Order: sequence, then C-alpha cells, then structure tokens
Amino acid sequence: MISNLVKENIKSLIPYEVKECETVAKLDANENNNVDYLLNQKIAKALMELKVNQYPDTDCCELRRILGKQLRLSPQQLLIGCGSDQIILMILQAFIGAGDKILIHTPTFGMYKISTQIVGGSTIEVPLGEDFTFDYYNFVKVMKKEAPKVVFLTNPNNPTGGVIPREQIIRIIEHANGIVVIDEAYVEFYGETVLDLVNYYPNLIVLRTLSKGYGLAGARVGYGVASKELMGILYKVKPPYNIGSLSQVAAKVCLENKEMLDRVIKEIIIERDKMADVLSDIPDIKVYKSHGNFLLCKVGKAKEVYQHLADHKVLVRYFGEEGPLKGCIRITIGTKEENQLVVKLLMEALGVTKEIAV
Ligand SMILES: Cc1ncc(COP(=O)(O)O)c(C=O)c1O
Repeated sequence: MISNLVKENIKSLIPYEVKECETVAKLDANENNNVDYLLNQKIAKALMELKVNQYPDTDCCELRRILGKQLRLSPQQLLIGCGSDQIILMILQAFIGAGDKILIHTPTFGMYKISTQIVGGSTIEVPLGEDFTFDYYNFVKVMKKEAPKVVFLTNPNNPTGGVIPREQIIRIIEHANGIVVIDEAYVEFYGETVLDLVNYYPNLIVLRTLSKGYGLAGARVGYGVASKELMGILYKVKPPYNIGSLSQVAAKVCLENKEMLDRVIKEIIIERDKMADVLSDIPDIKVYKSHGNFLLCKVGKAKEVYQHLADHKVLVRYFGEEGPLKGCIRITIGTKEENQLVVKLLMEALGVTKEIAV
C-alpha cells in the first residue's frame, strides 16, 4: 500500500551506496587519512566554549566571514552546506523540476544524477573521451541541442582524476543558457581554480568542500560561491540551521589552521604521484593520471583483486564489470603505511613477485 503512494521518480531511484565495514585502511571515499592529530585537540578545545543548548548560527556568519577573507570574496557570495552534497541539492531544488534537464559528463560523481531524479528532473549524460579525457566539442554540441537549465562540470573529476582546461570551462559558461556549476571538491590537490570568475559570470557557481583536502568529512561542511544574485536564490531554499554548531566550530578551527593542512596536502600530492609510478610498474594495472587525492586504476581480475583487498580489511572503491568503469578500482591516497599495504596486496592478488619500493 505504501509503495503505491511513492512518487514515480522515487520508485525507480537507485540510492547512493555506502559500504560500512571494519577496515584497517579505509581508502574508498577520498577522505584525508593524513590529518594531524593536533587538529583534533584544537577542535576539542574550541568545542568546550560552545553553547550546545542553543541552535546554531543559521547562516554560518562567522564561518563565511573567515572564508570570505581567505578567498577575497564578500560573505554574501558564500553559502555553507551540510557537505557540498546539500548545495548540489539546493541548486537543483531552486532550478530543476519535472521536465527540466541537467547536463553532466560521465563517469562522474553520482549525486548530481541522484539528486536530479529526487527533484523530478532528468539527466543528460555526455561520455568522456579516450582515457576519460573531457570531450569538449561533443559536450558543447549536446549542451546547445538540449539547452539544460543546469550544467555540472567536476574539476578535477571523481572518479577519473582528470581535469578540464580553464579556457574550455570559460567557453562553456559563456555558451550556456543556464547555470554552470564547477565542482572543485578536489581543488587542493590540483591547484587551479575558477573561483575568480564568479565576479564576472552571474550564472556560475563554484562548489568546494572541507571533506577532502581539509580532512573534515565527518563534520559535513561544504560551500558554494556565486554572484550575490544567484546566492539570493539559493538562500531561499536553504533549510534553517543546516550546519550544526559542532561542525561550524570544527570548520572554523580547520580554516584557521590552513598552513598545517596545506603541508599535509603537499605530502599527499607527492605520495599520489609516487603511487601512480609504482602502480604503473605492475603488470595488469593501468593508472589514469589523477589531479585528486585518489588514483583510478584499470585492473585485470578487478573483482578478485578488490575481494583480496577487502579480505585484508583494505577498502577501495570497485566499479563492477559493466559500463565505462568496468574493471576499475579507485584507491584513495592514504598514509604511507596504508599505501604500502595496498601495493603489497595488489601485487599478491595479481601474482607479482618482483620487488617494488613504495
Ligand atoms: C566531486 C565531488 N563533489 C562533491 C562531493 C561531496 O562532498 P561532501 O558532501 O562531503 O562535501 C564529493 C564526495 O565524494 C565529490 O567527489
């Protein structure tokens, strides 16, 4: 009986899947396993001052003030979300309804499509080109034909790690008839941003998160940056008190200790490139160039390899044996020890015996 009441678009929805299991190395969600323990102590100290009996600052004014100063933007151009996931949903709630279309490249982060289905819209997908490079000409062709209300570009892309050149992003923003969202969840591991363009293009939204480089996935804090006009619209759909006061405190501590995190991020980038070289030397593994904190690898016997890792409580992301990511696993760059463990287990699973130094 209840199933008859469910909206048609929700009936067919395949929800986002999260694997919960005991691990010795959790390398499946692009978290930052290298964050300094000192940061926890600082967060704990700051939490002692908190009045948890009161509702949080609904618009995260203090957090936006700090971010605005760091990014040289007006706090009015900033919106904080319960993860950037919530901002994706807010964008769709504000602009997409039944009959409306969004445009994405595939493969990419799954939540654009899921959230679009939740709000009743549909998703047009443009495949990435050879070796998962961005197919600019085809993307623009489809964009002109379909006239989507919202376009999502993920830069660097998850799960491929590839990037889109700035000039191509600019041309897409200029050719688009609707909103263009540039998701920069992994920007800290890439270094190039289009944040400066929000002052020139009123249809542009840049998304960021503290879940990746900043090592704060547990607090669920992301932010969006856009023109004041666009922000005014997004604030209409923002739920009140959407960021808990504990998370606001954690985010503030994180931003105030940026140098500490910048150091960790540099180390992860070095470790990523080293891992890419090491894995490329293993027969049966193809590593795609990554600008994120993860590596996408096409692996022979991917299912068995994934299972071998899982049997040793090392969790990576496996994409199954169908679609463009068939036979691929995505490995988050972890601590040095975790990375060494992954390499050892991969070699074991693939029956490689030669010495490889990580
Ligand atoms: C490209 C991209 N965007 C957004 C997110 C969501 O991040 P969060 O909701 O933790 O801010 C992720 C998480 O994996 C991602 O890969």
